[in-house]
Amino acid sequence: MTILILGSGGREHTFAWKIAQSPLCKSLYVAPGNSGTAEIAQNVNIGVTDFSAIKTLVLDKQIDMVVVGPEDPLVQGVHDFFLNDQALKHISVIGPQQAAAELEGSKEFAKEFMMRHNIPTAAYQSFNASNVEDGYAFLETLNPPYVLKADGLAAGKGVLILNDLNEAKAELKNMLVDAKFGNASSKVVIEEFLDGIELSCFVLTDGKNYKILPTAKDYKRIGEGDTGLNTGGMGAVSPVPFATPEFLNKIEERIVKPTVAGLQKDNLPYKGFIFIGLIKVGDDPKVIEYNVRMGDPETEVVLPRLKNDLVEIFQAISNETLHTIDIEIDERAATTVMLVSGGYPESYEKGKEITGIEAITDSIPFHAGAIVKDEKVVTSGGRVMAITSYGNTYQEAIKKSYQNIEKLHFDKMYYRKDIGFDL
Ligand code: AMP
Ligand code: GLY
Repeated sequence: MTILILGSGGREHTFAWKIAQSPLCKSLYVAPGNSGTAEIAQNVNIGVTDFSAIKTLVLDKQIDMVVVGPEDPLVQGVHDFFLNDQALKHISVIGPQQAAAELEGSKEFAKEFMMRHNIPTAAYQSFNASNVEDGYAFLETLNPPYVLKADGLAAGKGVLILNDLNEAKAELKNMLVDAKFGNASSKVVIEEFLDGIELSCFVLTDGKNYKILPTAKDYKRIGEGDTGLNTGGMGAVSPVPFATPEFLNKIEERIVKPTVAGLQKDNLPYKGFIFIGLIKVGDDPKVIEYNVRMGDPETEVVLPRLKNDLVEIFQAISNETLHTIDIEIDERAATTVMLVSGGYPESYEKGKEITGIEAITDSIPFHAGAIVKDEKVVTSGGRVMAITSYGNTYQEAIKKSYQNIEKLHFDKMYYRKDIGFDL
């Protein structure tokens, strides 16, 4: 098969690494890709939401399957674009259709879905500019901290957690009336604060059947001890040690089953990954969000533990025969540490040469914001590279990642030295 991956991060390099190992994959393209994907696939400089350029590429290269990495093209309907085009409709697309991608595209839609299907989540109400006063009144009924979520996609920045009631009211006004997150905050979900430890669960579905992939825990804050600004993720660990079989069973029965059944009941066509963000409150899992794609850097620890041929799984998703696949998971733990540009998640410089990659042994360097320029690998983004390792325990794995990071260098390189600290 000829396969195209859309995206350019560590997640997409990991997809490319895994797909390239499949005997079913004859030819692999990544759009736009990065310096890591360039080594194992052919990069094509096309944006992930440029549907007409994607169509031209797909027809030109006779692509059989498109694997969508990030959420934007899904929320903008890339799967529907293929289905509605006579020349493209036979091509497999891994990722939900637009109606189902609203689970990530709209927080209110996701909350209504969970309420309808009795899926445990925080209590909430949603507001818009016309009833901002009701929003203030609702905030007064809650105990701090206050959780405010922009309804639409806001590049991971749309959730505010505030301790002070007046500040929460001011931010609610900023979001609804002053368009703090543009159109994404024309609606705001205010929800009950859930106190507990976070983890994520990854599910594959063909719309009818599902398979559960290993859990992972991401470290979102920039600073050690989970302090400072939120980022896309500074490192990850899989499996999550506190996710016991009993707890995983609760996740499957109370969350995964009703989610997949709910998609079917509501006619939300879904062939792809469901990434369920959870908080363990006491001994019970509650959903904080759905994402309609894999996580980054969670992919960098989940896919390396998957022993199956990923292309075979994708074919089964496409043919709605996922029930025939037995998922096999590597018993070892996997960890990853994200190297970022100094200044990230705020402003940072690009174009810094990355050295030492060839000296890495026993870890896998998944490239993210890195490209090849004048035959050198240079930084091109805030999140630069994720260093993944295996170990019999997560402690052993993380040690390997840190030992290998010592060999890497770029100007103003930063990473967290405490991934896994709270486990
Ligand atoms: P989200 O974009 O929905 O994943 O939210 C970003 C982060 O905000 C999450 O990773 C959680 O750490 C936190 N968060 C979201 N919702 C809640 C909640 N109801 N209670 C506590 N923390 C939350
Ligand atoms: N690491 C969080 C995300 O991919 O959304």
